[in-house]
This record gives sequence, C-alpha cells and structure tokens, in this order.
Amino acid sequence: MKIAILASEGAPFCKSGGLGDVMEALPAALARIEGNEVLLILPYYKRIKDNPKFKVRELCHFEAGVGWRQAYAGIMELEGGREGVRVWFIDSEYYFGARPGAIYGDIDDGERFTFFSKSCLDAMAIQGWIPDVIQCNDWQTALVPTYLKAMYSHLFPKTRCMYTIHNIEYQGWANASFFDDVLYLPWEYRGCMDMNGSVNMMKGAIETADLVTTVSETYARELMYPYYAHGLDPILSAAAWKLTGITNGIDVGTFNPATDPALPAHYDSTSFIQGKAACKAALQYEVGLPVKPEVPLLVMVTRLAGHKGLDLLCYIIRRLLWEEDVQILILGTGEPHFEQFFRELSREYPDKVAAKITFDLGLAARIYAGGDVYLMPSKSEPCGLSQMNAMRYGTVPVVHATGGLRDTVPPCDEHGKGGLGFTFQSYNGDDFHAAVSRAVHLYHHERNNFRELQKTCMEQDFSWDKPAARYMNLFRQMLTW
Ligand code: GLC
Repeated sequence: MKIAILASEGAPFCKSGGLGDVMEALPAALARIEGNEVLLILPYYKRIKDNPKFKVRELCHFEAGVGWRQAYAGIMELEGGREGVRVWFIDSEYYFGARPGAIYGDIDDGERFTFFSKSCLDAMAIQGWIPDVIQCNDWQTALVPTYLKAMYSHLFPKTRCMYTIHNIEYQGWANASFFDDVLYLPWEYRGCMDMNGSVNMMKGAIETADLVTTVSETYARELMYPYYAHGLDPILSAAAWKLTGITNGIDVGTFNPATDPALPAHYDSTSFIQGKAACKAALQYEVGLPVKPEVPLLVMVTRLAGHKGLDLLCYIIRRLLWEEDVQILILGTGEPHFEQFFRELSREYPDKVAAKITFDLGLAARIYAGGDVYLMPSKSEPCGLSQMNAMRYGTVPVVHATGGLRDTVPPCDEHGKGGLGFTFQSYNGDDFHAAVSRAVHLYHHERNNFRELQKTCMEQDFSWDKPAARYMNLFRQMLTW
C-alpha cells in the first residue's frame, strides 16, 4: 500500500512535543510492514535546513496558490530516506526557511500551514506519487482532507484520507474572512469550515476525512464530552461512526535502557536492580540532590503547563515533603509562574527538590532511568508518551486515570498487584496525594513487590507494532469504500 503521512513536525528533524515522536516512529513502523511504501512530508524549517546532518536534494519546484497569490514551493528529498521511509520537505523561504525560532507561534501560522497542506498535495501530484491513503495530523494539516475532496479529487481519484487528532485544544481557528482570503475553497465548503461564524480547520477535517482517529481509546470516548472537546463535542458525536481511538506506541529502539547512550549504566527487565541503582545515584549527583539510595526519587518530565496537572502537584508538594522522606525532581520549561514556583522550592529544600528548567533529551532519558516513581497527573491527556518511556525504564507511574494514561497504566492495588501503576480517578489534589503515598509506601515497606511491579512495567510491549497494525486495518477499510 502507498501511504503518505503529512505533519508539521517529526523527530529527528524537528519536534516540539509528542506529535514529533509519533511522526518519527509510526511511518517507520508502517514501512516495516511488507508491501508498504511510505512517504513522510514535513515543512523545510530553518532548523532542518541549517542542520548538516540532513542532506537533501531538490526534486523540483513549483508555484503554489495561497488564496489569490502565488508562492514558490520546492520539494527537497532526504537523501537515502530514513528507516525505509521516503522523506520530503516542502521548501519555502518565506513561510519556513527564513524564520528562526520556534516552529509555531507566528502571527500567520494559519496561512503558513494552509500553504503547507496544499503544497503537499501539489507535490505528490507533480511527482506522480499517488498514494492509496493519506494520513494527516492535528490542525496544521487539517485542510488536507478538505482540499482533497474539494479541489484535488481529479488528481487523486482513489486516494482515501485519515485525519488524526493528537490534541483537540489547538483547532486552527481563523476569522471568517480567512475562507476567502487564504483558503480559496469552493463556496459549498463554507459550511463545513464554519464554527460559530469563524473558520475552524479541525472541524472541516472531521467532516471531510474518510476516517478520524485519535491517539487512545479513552480519549476517543472523552471527546464526546464538553469537558474534553473544547467545543467540538457535537461535531465529534455526529462523526462518532468514523472515529476510532488507537493508543500510540513508543520507539522501543530509541527508548531502551539496555542500549540508550545517554545512560551511565545499562540494564533490562531480567536484571535491573544494580543498573537502575547506578543510574539513580548518578542522577542524584547530576542534579545536585544528596546521593541516597534509600530515599524514593519522584520524577517528572513535562511541559510546565496547567493541564499537565502541575496545579495539583503545587498544591500537595509541601505536604508531601513534610510527611514523607522523598526527593522530587522536575525537568521542563513552560508557564513562568510554574518555573518560578519550582525554582524557589528547590532553593528552599535543596536536599529534597531539584528543578531543571530546561529542555534536555539526554537528561530526560537519565530521569526515566534514575527515577523510582514517575508522576503524570495530567488533567487530560490524549495519549501521553512519557509514562510509557518511564515504565520501559522501570519507573513506576502515578497517573490521573484519563485518556491514554488510563489505557496504558491499569491500576494496581496497594501491594503493587494487578496493574502497572497507581492511578486516581477524580482530578483533585487529595486523590493525587493518596496515589503518590501508596507508591511511596510500597517502596518503603514492600520493596520486593515494588521491584516486581518495576519488572512488570519493563516487560510490557509498548512498541508500535500493534498500533501500526490497527492503522493498517483502518487503511484497508477505507480502500473498500
Ligand atoms: C499530543 C498529546 C499527547 C500525545 C501526543 C502524541 O502531544 O497531548 O497526549 O501523546 O500528542 O499523539
């Protein structure tokens, strides 16, 4: 099957969050399946262009229409591809190549990703690379199914399109005038792009895609409710017949405690006690905490944003430090008030709290390995990947039972039996506190059970093989229509 995957980010080229990880692993997993040809298309951001590791050659260039204007677009192909995947970058100095800094957040993001979405279709048409299915992701490529139906169906008569929601918070809202100025879609599509008088690109994709998926089974169900759906619940309820949740995997090749080059010691599920202890001691030393093997180290790698559950952590952290003999280590950047809170707390409790307000993939890996307990109290979480990374490295998760956290961390009892971690159902500080206490108690008083639980976590199959097979089933289903 010929599969084109379109996205606004993909590791190792460019990544701002979980979407980037998925776009690294899913195309490769699909390419490993016999008979598949996979093409990944990404924007040619300045940071990709400036990185000498990524060698490209120009396939061709063309004029892309953005509204009534014409814009230069080039197709750059990554030499040799990556893990069996062909990779194209859409080149535009104006929209991507000459812009330093973050990959999102420009005032004209709507126009930039309209250009990108349309150019992906143009590029495939010009190169004669006609896929059986297109899989596109989040608001940045949400226009693809709509353009495909409205303006490109003669070029791609049999191509089917799947749209995947990784996070419903960012929907691609624009003023009503964006429809005429930038989108230039036929008039009949005004209604499907419209939400309360404005343009909503994600809504258009939900309505025009052949199938819609999201990144966990529970999140698919949660999206039927206003609490989670940020206004799109009626749209998704009406489209429930074509909505499926497929829980992401992680790249078990990259995230492997037996080989990860970022770690000071290596281990696997059959023998991890010494290796993990060495990683913990090195980590405590690295972040300036007292090197104490017997004190449980609670860790968190996260964007410092409210919906990641930091408000709950802030609420309970002093009580936790007062009641329990623990160390807490947090890595991430984000909202200034959280950054300041954790900086100040680490000054107040230098022996118990360490805050690394930075983005550091190597340190993140050492934290997954060196921690004892991984905290992830997200208010909502479409899938979440770091809880799986933590489990793979033998770090026991404590999570809010929502979205993908609920699907990947079945709850265990207070003796650590019957599940993979400690969970709490209702989003409040006391329940979170109780779940953390259960984990700490198990660590202190039933160490053998704690180790058993670590081992069970490490033995899980979090690879992309199963999710990739589920994507394939849906692709095949679309092709029968
Ligand atoms: C988004 C979601 C996260 C998910 C990731 C990959 O970042 O917030 O929960 O794991 O996408 O699908």
